[in-house]
Amino acid sequence: MSVRKLLKMGDARLLQRAKPVCDATAPEIAALIDDMFDTMRAYSGVGLAAPQIGEGLRVIVFAVQDNPRYPDAPQVPQTVLINPQITVLDERLEYAWEGCLSLPGLRGEVPRFSRIAYSGLALDGSPIECEAEGFHARIVQHECDHLDGVLYPLRMQDMRRFGFEDTLAL
Ligand code: NI
Repeated sequence: MSVRKLLKMGDARLLQRAKPVCDATAPEIAALIDDMFDTMRAYSGVGLAAPQIGEGLRVIVFAVQDNPRYPDAPQVPQTVLINPQITVLDERLEYAWEGCLSLPGLRGEVPRFSRIAYSGLALDGSPIECEAEGFHARIVQHECDHLDGVLYPLRMQDMRRFGFEDTLAL
């Protein structure tokens, strides 16, 4: 278990499409997920995708539990999703401020679908299926975007709503 180095925007690896995991129960996947949680917590993130620590695999983790970077966010249980897939349940867009550990210190207003269903595999290989809305749905869409090489500024519609979190009037 270790805190890994986070790749920052500008690193070409963050723009690549990640590969599916063949065996979700492989020990190296369990070790990767341990490192992902350690790294996410060390930086007070609410989510992390494997490409952010230089592993081009379709694995995301997320959790919102009294997070200092998102003090007003609703709680989201700690979740591992291997080979995740998203189905949009409500195409209405919600606009809210997002950050990303690969863009330290920055925030941008990003449109996301308001309600989704997501599926994937858990660490033990069992299927996960869930519906989510609001901030929970936003995190899953943000992390799944990382698996396709998409960083949140690429989703933004108004670049005036982008800046440093210590300066923006949020
Ligand atoms: Ni991110």
